[in-house]
Amino acid sequence: MRLPLSRHGPRLLSSRNKGVVMDYGLKGRTAIVCASSKGLGRGCAEALAEAGCTLVLNGRNADTLNETATAIAATHGVAVIPVVADVGTAEGRASLLAAAPAPDILVNNNGGPPLKDFRELDEAAILEGVRQNMATPIALVQAVIDGMAERGFGRIVNITSSSVLAPIPGLDLSSGARAGLTAFMTGVARRYAGRNVTINNILPGKMDTDRLRSNLDAGARRAGKSLEDWSSAQAAAIPAGRFGTAEEFGAACAFLCSRRAGYITAQNLLIDGGLLGRAF
Ligand SMILES: NC(=O)c1ccc[n+]([C@@H]2O[C@H](COP(=O)([O-])OP(=O)(O)OC[C@H]3O[C@@H](n4cnc5c(N)ncnc54)[C@H](OP(=O)(O)O)[C@@H]3O)[C@@H](O)[C@H]2O)c1
Repeated sequence: MRLPLSRHGPRLLSSRNKGVVMDYGLKGRTAIVCASSKGLGRGCAEALAEAGCTLVLNGRNADTLNETATAIAATHGVAVIPVVADVGTAEGRASLLAAAPAPDILVNNNGGPPLKDFRELDEAAILEGVRQNMATPIALVQAVIDGMAERGFGRIVNITSSSVLAPIPGLDLSSGARAGLTAFMTGVARRYAGRNVTINNILPGKMDTDRLRSNLDAGARRAGKSLEDWSSAQAAAIPAGRFGTAEEFGAACAFLCSRRAGYITAQNLLIDGGLLGRAF
């Protein structure tokens, strides 16, 4: 189900309709976009495909992944290599790297830990959250970054969360693991800045994806409200008055991956429609 409020979001004009687009300088580059068969990962993949990148697309469900890969290849006329794999496993990451051993762009993404009271997390659950949202992206960065530096171009984007800046109760593990990743990557980014390799994080607030919808569904049930009423109230609390779209998220990712963004590194780009109200 598509939430009613999202339709008010602006749709970016595609290059076919617009005639003139900003040149991202990415034509012919290769991008590995993890966890990209749906949602924010797909938004990033679509925007990079529109900029002319060859894509390695990823997800665990083969049907969804192949459907998305076919759609992106048909729309943007680029090569799309679908890799069915769990990015959280060493074998999964090896399959992604086998599909593109020398990527120019890496977008790190993965599922997030489920909503849970922190007192219910045992050690195994905590380590699993850290593995998924911190160790997994680090392992991929370790595998690709020296090659990027040798070739003189590299763009790494980590999809984290607004909860890194403003932790959300019940998502403490997600906030903690991603904050750890952010600090880790800040040090790494500075080490590679002189080689035209950048590392940045994009922090989604409330973006209209399946994950948000299932969180809204759970919230509505807890509050004893209809999904529509609950979703409308949540969207109304955002200064932009609506949830964000994967397309808007992907556009920011493509810019950070572009040739023009070479002087931007170790930054956290919050995309939340003004929700957090932060000056810094
Ligand atoms: N949407 C938001 O408002 C929001 C806000 C803050 C943070 N985030 C974070 O942003 C990330 C993306 O969220 P989303 O809203 O785009 O989620 P989504 O709509 O549920 O999409 C998740 C995508 O990741 C794939 N995926 C999940 N686990 C995977 C794994 N282990 N290996 C490979 N692919 C995997 C899914 O495909 P398969 O299921 O087929 O594998 C799907 O393509 C998550 O970490 C989420 O916590 C989202």
